[in-house]
Amino acid sequence: MTHKFDAKKAEILDSRDRRKFLNPDSILEKSGLDSDTVLADLGCGSGFFAIPASLIVKKVCAIDVQQEMLDIVREKIRKGKLANIETLLSKESSIPLPDNSVDVLFMANVFHELEDRGSILNEAMRILSGRGRLIIIDWKKIEMEMGPPVEERLSEDEVVSICEDGDFMLLERLDAGPYNYMLVFGK
Ligand SMILES: C[S@@+](CC[C@H](N)C(=O)[O-])C[C@H]1O[C@@H](n2cnc3c(N)ncnc32)[C@H](O)[C@@H]1O
Repeated sequence: MTHKFDAKKAEILDSRDRRKFLNPDSILEKSGLDSDTVLADLGCGSGFFAIPASLIVKKVCAIDVQQEMLDIVREKIRKGKLANIETLLSKESSIPLPDNSVDVLFMANVFHELEDRGSILNEAMRILSGRGRLIIIDWKKIEMEMGPPVEERLSEDEVVSICEDGDFMLLERLDAGPYNYMLVFGK
């Protein structure tokens, strides 16, 4: 079984240090979002990306398997009086959204936590519109002081290979700072 990020440690996700090495505004700027985009943030955690994304796009679906994470996002939605972001509790290998309903499926530091990557990629294919994009950010598979143990990580090339096996096409490899990689796939 893969290891899930502990919701009790959610404040680490929102830390000032993290903002320095994985700046959400700069990542979202690279994600090619606009005011027509419907974005699903799968494994949204405490909303580190979902909340600022809601200020750019038409709609955000913030999705997680842990209700405690969604409760944190809901509190941020309430405080920010945000009207275009909804929270959805999901099951491990399915995404609770209709077919062809999403322009961008965003997963940050989630892919290595998935139990069944093939099933989630099938779900991604199903919910993404024809020109939809899958964006995966994850930890580089190198030793460092933070993040999951190196043996739980996937290298950038492993993720590309798994996604290509799921019929996704690699469009771009983008810089996501010293500790992470960022991959953009099309259908
Ligand atoms: C390391 S946290 C990252 C949170 C957020 N994406 C960020 O970068 O701040 C990973 C999150 O993915 C969620 N997660 C893991 N597997 C999932 C799955 N199969 N479906 C949806 N969420 C999942 C976990 O519950 C956790 O909140």
